Amino acid sequence: MSEFSVRAARVEDAQYLAAAERETARTPGLLRSKPEELRDETFTARIEQLESPGMHGRYLVAVDAQGSLVGHALLDPMPLIQCAHVFRLTIVVHPGHTSRGVGRLLMNALVAWASENERLEKIELLVRSTNTRAIRLYQSCGFVAEGRLCRVIKLPSGEFIDDIAMAWHRGAR
Ligand SMILES: CC(C)(COP(=O)(O)OP(=O)(O)OC[C@H]1O[C@@H](n2cnc3c(N)ncnc32)[C@H](O)[C@@H]1OP(=O)(O)O)[C@@H](O)C(=O)NCCC(=O)NCCS
Repeated sequence: MSEFSVRAARVEDAQYLAAAERETARTPGLLRSKPEELRDETFTARIEQLESPGMHGRYLVAVDAQGSLVGHALLDPMPLIQCAHVFRLTIVVHPGHTSRGVGRLLMNALVAWASENERLEKIELLVRSTNTRAIRLYQSCGFVAEGRLCRVIKLPSGEFIDDIAMAWHRGAR
């Protein structure tokens, strides 16, 4: 049995999730955002939105046996009516806790939730082409590559990284 578990995010988690994401963003090539672009208020607002009744979204956190936060992942529905069946996925396992099964636990929980919610027919995500750990995880959860956004990330070194657009489709497997 896993030493980690998953629960719905709470507003009081927001500052810790933001701090963990800022720490992750210090490593170039993982996230699109820079640390200074990740603000506590944005995390609070997103949890309030996705975990409020009627929003149809999902914001999950992973915790260890002591209840400490070790990761978070969310499914955010697109706002336009004709795209409301499409949800955007974000996942961040917190620094010091990667490669211990937390990412798989969060992905399994989100895909299980998606499978039960018929409004959701497609999940989209963008992943840096250099992030093989993340790409392998997404592929193993049924995501397929749908396109490549070339030179979309510019690192402080001046080097460019492409993004891969990946998607999960209801009923595809
Ligand atoms: C990418 C990320 C979500 C993966 O989660 P994780 O908890 O580290 O991964 P897990 O331990 O659950 O492993 C899941 C799969 O990832 C892959 N993986 C894990 N660690 C790996 C490593 N060190 N090297 C290569 N692949 C690895 C494997 O395919 C693994 O499958 P397996 O369990 O069958 O071996 C996590 O590392 C993370 O959040 N990293 C920082 C932020 C980030 O990159 N976010 C994604 C942005 S698109």
